[in-house]
Amino acid sequence: MAKTLGFISLKGGVGKTTLSAAVATHLVNAYHKKVLLIDANFSAPNLGLHMNIVSPRRTIHDVLNGDSVSSAIHQQYGVDVIPGNFLHSKEINPMLLKDKIGHLKNNYDFVVLDSSPSLNEEMLSTIIASDYIFAVSTPDYPTLSCTMRAAQLAKQRHRPISGIIVNQSHGSYDVSLQEIQESTGIPVVAKIKYDDIQHMALAERVPAPLFASGTKFVSEIDRFCRALLGLPEYSSKFMKFFSGSDERLEKVNRAILSKEFYTGAFKR
Ligand SMILES: Nc1ncnc2c1ncn2[C@@H]1O[C@H](COP(=O)(O)OP(=O)(O)OP(=O)(O)O)[C@@H](O)[C@H]1O
Ligand SMILES: [Mg+2]
Repeated sequence: MAKTLGFISLKGGVGKTTLSAAVATHLVNAYHKKVLLIDANFSAPNLGLHMNIVSPRRTIHDVLNGDSVSSAIHQQYGVDVIPGNFLHSKEINPMLLKDKIGHLKNNYDFVVLDSSPSLNEEMLSTIIASDYIFAVSTPDYPTLSCTMRAAQLAKQRHRPISGIIVNQSHGSYDVSLQEIQESTGIPVVAKIKYDDIQHMALAERVPAPLFASGTKFVSEIDRFCRALLGLPEYSSKFMKFFSGSDERLEKVNRAILSKEFYTGAFKR
């Protein structure tokens, strides 16, 4: 039975689609998992542009309007993808998402939902359909205040956030992981540096793990994926010696997450 992972944020442009595409692609290509990746950003869908599905024959919008789910699945980079239609015009009901994908969970190891940043039914549909929610945030105060609001919303729906992924870190002026964790009450499970290669990968429409496999971005995606699989992290004496407090915190949080995934402790 698949675990459904929802990537959410209340701010646009933080990296939800980039990370959804990277995690899905890496789970398939590095760990041979079966993954269904869905564009749940209904009003501004663009997962297709990250996954090189530019003119999909059917989309999540058609599925929500009554077409079969299987008719909207496109295979790309080894991943089963249900893209969105950015030219959609018909009304849709986002709250149908969970029911529409429910029966597919037996066919996959993971279902990955790339959410909308809008504080409305769109984001709520991902929150409700997910077994595990990850909030993506950049390490600055304005975005973190939005992340705290998203955490509050998820909690009100009895869907607590499993972890924060800090993306587009720049170094010196970042809010520290300790502070992020203390202010949100949510463990930080990954910290990904800003890397121009993401723009190249997007221009080529190839997710990072396939575009530039040796980068720090992909190493961090790998560490996160290993936690999702309940696997221990690779570590060396060299890394132990040179890791700072942020890295140590991340590592402990991921070990806890890994254990929770391994034992199913978070499973609803
Ligand atoms: N670690 C990173 N380093 C550099 N650029 C990044 C990184 N992560 C994402 N980006 C870039 O940031 C931009 C926004 O990313 P993305 O579309 O994934 O955000 P999003 O949260 O899904 O946005 P939206 O809420 O609008 O859907 C893209 O151009 C992407 O290539
Ligand atoms: Mg997006």
